[in-house]
Amino acid sequence: MKDAAPQPVRLSDYTPPAFLVDKVELTFHLHPTATRVLSKIAFRPNPAAVERRFFLHGEGLDLVSAQIDGTPVTPDITPEGLTCTVPDAPFTWQAEVRISPETNTALEGLYMSNGMYCTQCEAEGFRKITYYPDRPDVMAPFTVRIEGDLPVLLSNGNPAAQGAGWAEWHDPWPKPAYLFALVAGELVATSGRFTTCEGRAVDLNIWVRPADQGKADYALDALIRSMKWDERVYGRAYDLDVFNIVAVDDFNMGAMENKGLNIFNARYVLASPETATDRDYENIERIIAHEYFHNWTGNRITCRDWFQLCLKEGLTVFRDQQFAGDARSHAVKRIEDVIALRARQFREDGGPLAHPVRPESYTEINNFYTATVYEKGAEVIGMLRRLVGPEGYDKALALYFDRHDGEAATIEDWLKVFEDATGRDLTQFKRWYSQAGTPRLHVTDDFKDGTYTLHVEQETPPTPGQPEKHPQVIPLAVGLLSPNGDEVVPTTVLELTEEAQNFAFEGLGARPVPSLLRGFSAPVILDRETSAEERAFLLAHDTDPFNKWEAGRALARDVLVAMLAENAAPAPAYLDALAAMARDEALDPAFRALALRLPGEDQLAEDLHSRGQTPDPLAIHAARERLKTAVAAHLGALWPQLYDQMTCPGAYSPGAADAGRRALRLTALAYLARLDRGARARTHFAAADNMTDEIGALSALLEIGAGRDELDRFARRWRDDRLVMDKWFALQVSLAHPETAVDTARRLTEHPDFNWKNPNRFRAVIGGLTMNAAGFHDGSGAGYRLVADWLIRLDAVNPQTAARMSTAFETWPRLDRARQALIRAELNRIAAREGLSRDMAEMVGRLLS
Ligand code: PHE
Ligand code: ZN
Repeated sequence: MKDAAPQPVRLSDYTPPAFLVDKVELTFHLHPTATRVLSKIAFRPNPAAVERRFFLHGEGLDLVSAQIDGTPVTPDITPEGLTCTVPDAPFTWQAEVRISPETNTALEGLYMSNGMYCTQCEAEGFRKITYYPDRPDVMAPFTVRIEGDLPVLLSNGNPAAQGAGWAEWHDPWPKPAYLFALVAGELVATSGRFTTCEGRAVDLNIWVRPADQGKADYALDALIRSMKWDERVYGRAYDLDVFNIVAVDDFNMGAMENKGLNIFNARYVLASPETATDRDYENIERIIAHEYFHNWTGNRITCRDWFQLCLKEGLTVFRDQQFAGDARSHAVKRIEDVIALRARQFREDGGPLAHPVRPESYTEINNFYTATVYEKGAEVIGMLRRLVGPEGYDKALALYFDRHDGEAATIEDWLKVFEDATGRDLTQFKRWYSQAGTPRLHVTDDFKDGTYTLHVEQETPPTPGQPEKHPQVIPLAVGLLSPNGDEVVPTTVLELTEEAQNFAFEGLGARPVPSLLRGFSAPVILDRETSAEERAFLLAHDTDPFNKWEAGRALARDVLVAMLAENAAPAPAYLDALAAMARDEALDPAFRALALRLPGEDQLAEDLHSRGQTPDPLAIHAARERLKTAVAAHLGALWPQLYDQMTCPGAYSPGAADAGRRALRLTALAYLARLDRGARARTHFAAADNMTDEIGALSALLEIGAGRDELDRFARRWRDDRLVMDKWFALQVSLAHPETAVDTARRLTEHPDFNWKNPNRFRAVIGGLTMNAAGFHDGSGAGYRLVADWLIRLDAVNPQTAARMSTAFETWPRLDRARQALIRAELNRIAAREGLSRDMAEMVGRLLS
């Protein structure tokens, strides 16, 4: 925490490091409050440097001694680091510092979690461990010695030597400090072995606390499948003799790709059928794959500076999405990804926190691990692949690995390999990295003499700091259907490059029905006047599964908008189309479950806003409830049928097929609960033998205002399982009736098990409230006040997690005046706090500007 207002860092100010590092040797003498860190670092002047100043980052360190080439020195120390006079030739820096892991509540640097030592160094945590050039373009091999009275002592790379109370590790691959990791504790492993396509035998270990033994099998299985997939699809083999993963209870994010030693939030490792839902299994698979894939896209090729974060994150998300699509269903995966993209990234891109995929300035880089950098970053790569084709993409990626292995690269390097491999000019495409905001496509059409013409205009709204936008390259995948439902023009990719363009399709016998933006081929908002009949037609006939789902989704949205505007009854055409789809046994149950899910309340608020209206969170909630009840009644007899049909005989399997059946069955159960007052859900809950069924039934009950007894039973059964109890905390807040949500959250913050310093528990309750849109936006402002109180409290101990949650307020500009004023008052109250973290100060500053 700083006193003077910290200065933003700018991409345009980048200069190469003054010194490079040839070798790092670290020794840790572990102690909860007085860990000694000894470093020995071989520096060499960088021939490419523009200045010669020797500066090492360091924060909150107690420097015991420092030497250069064995001679004691006294550096100039500031809160950010130190400077020192050094020779104009290679030299060795040695230092000893003292740090206190036990009192490190920010969970960045070296900290303790339930008696175990662990580290988190991305983005700038290594500087809290020792003095070092903590920037990603300084890469070096590390040797680490750990001394501590704990049975398991881990660091990056390969084990070099060990004895009682000590261990040495050597990582031969040059890496930036943000990929450093150390773990020490009482841990047990679930182990496996994998032989790479290059013939290297790799020991795989998933380390967990002894009480969690037996819950890492699925993570290990997902790891092995990820390793195979990366060899088969990207030709990337693993490059060390061991791969360790550790599950940690207190973690700010999902997981971290430290070289050879991934550290995970325990919730993305631990699973058993009794304690983890299908969604948990899916997340574990995805995140295990994501971190593993970083070994090449992030570690072997890293980022030159933090502005290039999307270079590793966008690409690695794209890769984990491909993997999950291959492992499950491409259609279902794409729909889920787009739901999440719209809910998180479009919302961000349309509000005060909008920023480009490659930001140009930041005050605290931790604030830029965003949906834009990650998810929009992945969409940009998907568009690139669509534009150059799968072969062009594979060629470009081969060149990327070949050309930049061992380097710290930039977006310019990335685009250059595509240009060199495919001969395509990507100058205009590059705007996807620099322009913030979600482009809107306005589409009209006409039909004359057998020629069908699409008129497409693109427009990107102004965003903070970017009043003017230029046209982008937008791949628009379209197909045309004839009025009888046959596909007359299969999927074709139109390339938009101008503000306005026409595309003609000739030789058609009748006016076709267009299926636009198939597969969601670009992260844009499509504006086109479409009748309910046309949407119902596409829902029934579109061959593109994404657009089939999208047609149903758009119908539901239109119905809800009409219900809100005119208090209309839900359109029968919609209810009939939904019924036909739900009954269609040719469709994947997972797809049907998704199609039966109504658009979320926050999404509806955004839709209303983009139609120039001011959304009322309570009215939206009420309309959505009415529609759910109408759907329940209209499809009445179908629910018990689906419920009986969609059983999963045999032992629980988290695979896509069974998970899809359970999803459809639980959707039926939730609608049924509105008809039988939860009778079936109660029986289902009592009989559940896996967490998916247990949570599904409990949610169905909470949604209709029932389930008190079940909540109590759940708590008694699971009170010793912290991950399951996170669900208990989260569910009752996020599904509370709008009028009781704030009180429920407040009551839970007084619960003896509300350990607010644990990020998962904090997110369960406070994050749970922000996800209960109508409750959070309660007109009294009580929700805003409670969240702001807790952000202030958490900011003092864990700025990173607190600042992330402040994004709950990012939708304020679309709300009514009264709510706007209430939110602004809370943001101002936070901003005025003394000792506010740099993280939070930047967030509230951007939110208010
Ligand atoms: N690099 C991690 C990932 O995306 C995310 C992360 C960032 C974790 C910062 C911790 C801290 O896989
Ligand atoms: Zn990542």
